[in-house]
Amino acid sequence: MKAVYYHEHGAPEVLQYGELPVPEPGPGQVLVQVGAAAVNPVDRRLRSGELQEYISRTFPVVPGWDMAGRIVKLGEGVSDWQVGDDVMGLAFTWAIQHGSYAEYAPIDVSAITRKPEQFSFEQAAAIPLVSLTAWQSLDEFGNLQPGQSVLIQAGAGGVGSIAIPIAKHLGAKVYTTSRAANFDYVLGLGADVAIDYTVDDYRSVIRSQEPEGVDLVLEALLGEGVAEDAIRLAKTGGAVAYMNNEPPEMADIAERNIKAEFLHHRPDGAMLQNLVALFEQGVLKIPEIDVMPLTEAVAAHHRSESGRTRGKVVLHVQDL
Ligand SMILES: NC(=O)c1ccc[n+]([C@@H]2O[C@H](COP(=O)([O-])OP(=O)(O)OC[C@H]3O[C@@H](n4cnc5c(N)ncnc54)[C@H](OP(=O)(O)O)[C@@H]3O)[C@@H](O)[C@H]2O)c1
Repeated sequence: MKAVYYHEHGAPEVLQYGELPVPEPGPGQVLVQVGAAAVNPVDRRLRSGELQEYISRTFPVVPGWDMAGRIVKLGEGVSDWQVGDDVMGLAFTWAIQHGSYAEYAPIDVSAITRKPEQFSFEQAAAIPLVSLTAWQSLDEFGNLQPGQSVLIQAGAGGVGSIAIPIAKHLGAKVYTTSRAANFDYVLGLGADVAIDYTVDDYRSVIRSQEPEGVDLVLEALLGEGVAEDAIRLAKTGGAVAYMNNEPPEMADIAERNIKAEFLHHRPDGAMLQNLVALFEQGVLKIPEIDVMPLTEAVAAHHRSESGRTRGKVVLHVQDL
């Protein structure tokens, strides 16, 4: 099969395009003929050699966890799915080898749901990781309620593109950060207040409008003092969901009863099915998608590393 893979960690150029054997589905898995695979920041972090203490590698590694495609083979013990079913899912594993940047990829059936016909494979592949992350942060962890307030950092990114409409669906007031060039996008997603972080200090803007702080911060940024500021911006009894790091050590967290955690997305086919229903009903919008061919995975990783992509970058793998 045609696949993108790497034999060693490094810059995007370690990604090669070539032939690899078709993997076999393990017990409880199906083999998917991949139509499209989304690019996520974690793909490039793993490629560059980060996160080795958490996630092991067997080289050559095919990157990619998000996929949409057609089932072509059932693993042992799989009875609820059939060859020919079109599915989408998050093929997260703690041991990476057979990812979705390839013509065929295995995935646990517990991580998939049916792909609605009305969505293209590219649209379907863009959904799983960011939607599950956003839902698990805002609803499951944050218990965001109508009338509450939330700061969603990096609103124009993949996670922000879904987190903003989910927060609105849950009835919250949404503050988000983006460059002014992306205001039309984040306001179109439903954000109430967009803050151009290149011009204004987002902390001051939020403090001026929410003197007690916000109920929840979805902190997707890294940087000097960012983690501490998220705690300071949360109101007493509020919560901070960190996307990239453990909470900072601050007495303020216990003193003001802030719930703070490093959240890691969890594959969950049933939850994904509920989220897909929200997309089908039009409650959630498919993010803006920049489609690139699988052969351009190096350029796709460079684009992702720029930190400037709006919505999702998705690799078209093959026509199905
Ligand atoms: N823990 C988890 O389970 C999990 C899951 C998904 C993602 N993450 C992490 O969460 C972060 C966001 O993920 P993503 O997929 O949304 O990334 P992404 O799509 O690559 O984010 C790109 C966006 O970030 C915005 N941005 C860049 N610098 C910014 C800044 N200083 N302030 C505000 N916005 C800024 C850019 O918008 P502008 O051009 O408007 O600045 C761009 O649209 C990443 O660090 C990722 O690793 C963690």
